[in-house]
Amino acid sequence: MPFGVIYIAIMPTVDDPTEKTLAELGVNDAQGVAEKFAEVRTRFDRQVAFDADEIRSLMLHEAWLGSDSDPVTSLRNFWVGRKAGVLTLITENWLKKSPPSLKGVVGKQFNELKTHIETKLEEQRKRIEEKTEAAALNREQVDLSLPGVIRPVGSHHLIRQVFQEIEDIFFSIGFSIVEGPEIETPYYNFEALNIPEFHPVRDDMDTFYLELPKGAKTPLLLRTHTSPMQIRTMEKQKPPVRVIVPGKVYRRDNPDATHSFAFHQIEGLAVDTDITFCDFTGTIEYFVKQFFGPSVKTRFRPSYFPFTEPSVEFDVSCPFCGGTGTAAAGGTCTKCKGAAWIELFGAGMVDPAVYGFVNYDAKKVSGFAFGIGIDRLAMLKYGIDDIQVFFQNDVRFLRQFP
Ligand code: PHE
Repeated sequence: MPFGVIYIAIMPTVDDPTEKTLAELGVNDAQGVAEKFAEVRTRFDRQVAFDADEIRSLMLHEAWLGSDSDPVTSLRNFWVGRKAGVLTLITENWLKKSPPSLKGVVGKQFNELKTHIETKLEEQRKRIEEKTEAAALNREQVDLSLPGVIRPVGSHHLIRQVFQEIEDIFFSIGFSIVEGPEIETPYYNFEALNIPEFHPVRDDMDTFYLELPKGAKTPLLLRTHTSPMQIRTMEKQKPPVRVIVPGKVYRRDNPDATHSFAFHQIEGLAVDTDITFCDFTGTIEYFVKQFFGPSVKTRFRPSYFPFTEPSVEFDVSCPFCGGTGTAAAGGTCTKCKGAAWIELFGAGMVDPAVYGFVNYDAKKVSGFAFGIGIDRLAMLKYGIDDIQVFFQNDVRFLRQFP
């Protein structure tokens, strides 16, 4: 709206009739009263039709508005404000001060004007609110044609990927997956695995014991291997058992290129009425060939674990030098240090003593178990020479295994 119109709308304030009494305005009959009220009403009707910006200029002009206040509220106060609103002025100057003969007419006109003003102000408030809302909606509309924000998607950690690979291989030959607690009792971590308290192998494996309140029923420790799940599984289920147990394990090791106080294992356990050493080596060989490729050879060497008898260490022919001990470029293979073989993991036939702890009949059942160190396998397969990189989580490392 051009400034001129606003100017006309506010003109009467220059010499505001509501600031004078009717007598001062020379009004002395009903006709004159009606005309005065009509004037005020016209002025109001003009203003109430303004949009928010126009009201703002108007109110600024009237000095009813600080530049940051809400113009609609200002307009409302200007008209119906208790202290100095136009309606209050009319009450004071016209109604209260009118001669008794005109009181009735002024009162009636006043009430009509008041109702009119209030209704219109309310309508105006709604109108402006809706408009503001529509404008906001318009402003905030989502433009689906804009290119999206690209959020880089992470990938599974290499250890997790290797877990998955190994799980898939054993899954395909009938093993299922179970998981168990990382906090164990000495009974499951040692005793039930045929490692009594005085046994020297505990020295290697003694680990992080938890600080418990005095009077706790049993000590607790971070498991040193996934083998406790052999016991927990056999306690729960009768043979046949074919499970693998992926998980984290903890030992009191000082960190270096091949040691970490936390690392990962997959335990395997198969128990049935007719499992032989052949089933054992066949299964392991199948796994190793699936994992490293068909050209690798395997071998086992005698070893010792209290919970397997006989116990073995499984070796794989060095996948880097093709089991020759000599690097492709000549010289000694650095991976197997010329040995042609790489030690993979420990395993064995379940020691009959273990069946005693889980109420299996050692005369009827037999089985094998293995414990694969995942970090070591991942390092071998992917040519990583420092175990610490698995725990540092440097994205420059992680990104190489999307
Ligand atoms: N638990 C043994 C270890 O952590 C590995 C193992 C598991 C050996 C099962 C034999 C059978 O060293």
